[in-house]
Amino acid sequence: MANAVTRRGFVGLAGAAFGAAVLSACSGGNNAGSQGSASVAAAGGIDYMVLVNKQHKLPDDWEAKVDLVEAKSPLYDEPVKVERKAYEAYLALKKDLDAEGTFVDLDSCYRSVAHQQEVMDEFTKEKGEEYAKRIVATPGYSEHHTGLALDLFLVIDGKNVAENDEMMKHPDIWEKVHAKLADHGFILRYLHERKIFTGYSYEPWHIRFIDNPEVAKKIMETGVTFEEYLNEVPEYIAGCKVDYGTSKTYAESDIDSTIDPILGEFANWKGCVMKRFVFAGDDACGAEELAYANSLREQGTDEFDQAIVLVTDFHSPSADQAQGTAWEPDKDYNDYTWHLGRTGADGAWKLLTWGYA
Ligand code: DAL
Ligand code: ZN
Repeated sequence: MANAVTRRGFVGLAGAAFGAAVLSACSGGNNAGSQGSASVAAAGGIDYMVLVNKQHKLPDDWEAKVDLVEAKSPLYDEPVKVERKAYEAYLALKKDLDAEGTFVDLDSCYRSVAHQQEVMDEFTKEKGEEYAKRIVATPGYSEHHTGLALDLFLVIDGKNVAENDEMMKHPDIWEKVHAKLADHGFILRYLHERKIFTGYSYEPWHIRFIDNPEVAKKIMETGVTFEEYLNEVPEYIAGCKVDYGTSKTYAESDIDSTIDPILGEFANWKGCVMKRFVFAGDDACGAEELAYANSLREQGTDEFDQAIVLVTDFHSPSADQAQGTAWEPDKDYNDYTWHLGRTGADGAWKLLTWGYA
């Protein structure tokens, strides 16, 4: 998503009223490609490998150092802004893709902290807090603040395909785009089935410039997240394997939405390390489980219409850390279950109970 979703969301949901203060109104214009112009910030030494995510805030001195240039996006009247080297690399990437008949262009790129807050507020107003928090980073914690994150959109048969759901329908085209990223020093940031590490569900359009094709190749070829590459995964989930299984009931994003409530609890279990996180399968989430979930529902709250079960393996703390806890020290606890329920597909999963069945 991005500002992209934001802009599109606002146009669709609230009309074009959000306008230039946030980014710009949608021009719906040509696909001629983006062209850079004036530098809008002083040059300075930035760390192109900077990590900005839910745990790592934008460095305080970043805004003063980053050298942003303006670029044209066919989606907006106002130019978007991109870090200078990232923009040059993007133009080279685009040229490369154009040559093979794959067409992309720029949607949201740099966003100030104030802009991100506006995005968050508007999403919250239009779609609710749960939805907004799921896809919009907390202001100060968005990679878009760096100027190194670019949201692309596809141009297919001369038409702009910029809606998230529509873009998701073209995995074959994204595959071609992703195959060229590393050559130009970009990585794909929010990978399939890796929300546990990145904090966000799959976003094929959100690319990140790291200014080092060799490292980018290593990251893209091994399929690790940026967090894993930098060894910056919180200790309590380091090395955790995640298995989404197959489901006719739940999409990847539905399963992803269970991660925050479960880890919200698990992160407090001092010294415990999650080893495996598995969707229990459709059969485990049927009518019987729904009735169980509703039996655990808080009085006066809406009835759940969906239930889900996750199964985890974790390792308990070492003897000194396990003191005063319920855990036997230094032991593998396998097939430990987590039960959640929600009301409506857009509702937040509520963690109801956890333990052995
Ligand atoms: N959609 C990404 C996570 C952001 O808001 O930065
Ligand atoms: Zn993005």
